[in-house]
Amino acid sequence: MTSLEGRRVLVTGANRGIGGELVRAALARGASTVLAGTRDPDAFPPADRVVPVRLDVSAADQISAAAAEHPDVDLIVSNAGVSCYRVVLGDGGEDEFARAMDVNFLGPMRLVRAYADSVRRPDAGVVFVLSVGAVALSRSSPIYSASKAACLMMALAVREELRESGAHVTVVLPGFVDTEMSTALRMHKASAVGVAERILDGWSSGQRTVWPDRFAEVVRDAVGPAFERLLDDPRATMTGVQAAFLESVGD
Ligand SMILES: NC(=O)c1ccc[n+]([C@@H]2O[C@H](COP(=O)([O-])OP(=O)(O)OC[C@H]3O[C@@H](n4cnc5c(N)ncnc54)[C@H](OP(=O)(O)O)[C@@H]3O)[C@@H](O)[C@H]2O)c1
Repeated sequence: MTSLEGRRVLVTGANRGIGGELVRAALARGASTVLAGTRDPDAFPPADRVVPVRLDVSAADQISAAAAEHPDVDLIVSNAGVSCYRVVLGDGGEDEFARAMDVNFLGPMRLVRAYADSVRRPDAGVVFVLSVGAVALSRSSPIYSASKAACLMMALAVREELRESGAHVTVVLPGFVDTEMSTALRMHKASAVGVAERILDGWSSGQRTVWPDRFAEVVRDAVGPAFERLLDDPRATMTGVQAAFLESVGD
């Protein structure tokens, strides 16, 4: 178990929803400082051990400034995200598609690149809050799915690139969570509090993939253990694939 006691945690999208609960959960676990990434730090309610940081993840200059001002972080939680309820072949929408890719994929990539040196060590790491949409198409928000799928591949690459350092990378694939993002959806939703707890439990216990709610678990069971292994350890799966391929072609 990697405790958060006395650690420095950066959370993006910290002002509400799952991010707000991640801040509270990290404080409850004894984090010494929570860097609360938000687009409007002046509106962030003051709290002990919380430092609001201006962080629009689509603004490269804000990410550089945050990393320069607060370089020492033990855990980065890339949580900020936007929805995109538009089909691919409808009229218009390109601005929204570009925004989804920017916030949900390019933003987390910029962030983790800016903090790579900080988290490249044992007991440090990164959590990427993605979506089950990264592995199972959302028909109502396909470009949201695409942006989360792109981020998933980037996150798996980051895990490989940090492997030797001992840093731990956790990918989170929530289903439906009761926040502003999902107000339009009429179905059972998990609480943001419970999801935040499972996210931090997952990272602390070394889980590589976290399915943090009931809907996510049902998706996990539908895709099956082989796909889970592919997410947890793509290198091991592809080593097996390569061996099977070479055997099948007689090499
Ligand atoms: N709710 C669900 O059902 C669900 C399901 C699967 C995955 N997720 C994922 O969980 C994460 C958190 O979502 P949520 O449910 O907590 O949604 P939410 O309540 O809508 O919160 C989204 C957060 O992201 C921030 N944000 C948006 N654009 C940003 C930007 N350019 N730079 C920095 N912050 C930005 C928002 O800040 P502002 O207040 O400034 O807009 C807000 O803090 C997202 O990555 C989302 O895709 C949610």
